[in-house]
Amino acid sequence: MHRDAILLEISAPETRVARKLGSTFESCMKTGSQADNRFENDAEKYAAYLQTPEGRLRLDLACANVQEYFPARQESNYMCALDLGCGTGAAAVTLARLGFHVTLLDSSPAMLDIAQRAALEASVGGQITPKYDDVSRLRNLFNLGSFDVILCHNVLEYVDDPGAVLSDAARLLRNSSAILSVLVRSQAGDVLKAAIQTGDLAAADDVLTSDWGQESLYGGKVRLFALDKMRKLMKAASLKVIAERGVRIIADYLPPKVSRSAEYDRILELEGKLGRRAEFVASARYMQFLAHPLKDGV
Ligand SMILES: C[S@@+](CC[C@H](N)C(=O)[O-])C[C@H]1O[C@@H](n2cnc3c(N)ncnc32)[C@H](O)[C@@H]1O
Repeated sequence: MHRDAILLEISAPETRVARKLGSTFESCMKTGSQADNRFENDAEKYAAYLQTPEGRLRLDLACANVQEYFPARQESNYMCALDLGCGTGAAAVTLARLGFHVTLLDSSPAMLDIAQRAALEASVGGQITPKYDDVSRLRNLFNLGSFDVILCHNVLEYVDDPGAVLSDAARLLRNSSAILSVLVRSQAGDVLKAAIQTGDLAAADDVLTSDWGQESLYGGKVRLFALDKMRKLMKAASLKVIAERGVRIIADYLPPKVSRSAEYDRILELEGKLGRRAEFVASARYMQFLAHPLKDGV
């Protein structure tokens, strides 16, 4: 699509944007599956968060972790990736720069607009296919075994049935060396945040036994994941976890004398080392799971 045509669509009303995206906007609305208005109504707020040191750390660490496990490139064909709940497309742009063709799936047209713009600005617009839809419909959207890499980063927090999304994603992995990267908000991480960052001991105590936390950016409810629960979900979805990582273990609690901006590279390096250590995985703000399908074409 020509750049001007895309920009025209970006400023167009939501329904036109969605239609242009080759979407099923109306069916999505009918099934009530337009999951989460918070991302639609204030997508720019999320984009701004990603520019903060904390936002950058989450993205940089998660992308570096996936890159370690990329399947070997086949000579004959290009690699396909799917970004579930792609948001502003920051991770997708990284994958596109590395040579992937990336399909972006999100239930927020506003997010998809931002993602498309980011792809154009990074000169990788030709490697991006935006798709407006709901992850709960994943099994109806793509052929089995279509993707070499699938990202599922901070979207399970907002869906009704995380296990179903994981099972459907597993079926879309091309073969046994294809990789699924799942990033979720850690329950233990939320306990630490409430106690250390906010000093709210009652909240910390509550979160210890709750599947739900409070999101600071938009203020809504957000699902929390415990390590053992995630392991069970992955197994039940026929996924073989090959690595577990903690993402952001210390950065949120550093004292003011450590500038998160000026010291970004040092913090990133240390976080990378800590995140590999099993003893820190669950206490991170996010846990990342890298997995292969248990068998081809599950
Ligand atoms: C916290 S953001 C994460 C964005 C991106 N994956 C990242 O890591 O920066 C969650 C994204 O998931 C999308 N989302 C939430 N529920 C969804 C659903 N049921 N189907 C598709 N996308 C959904 C939101 O619109 C939003 O863009």
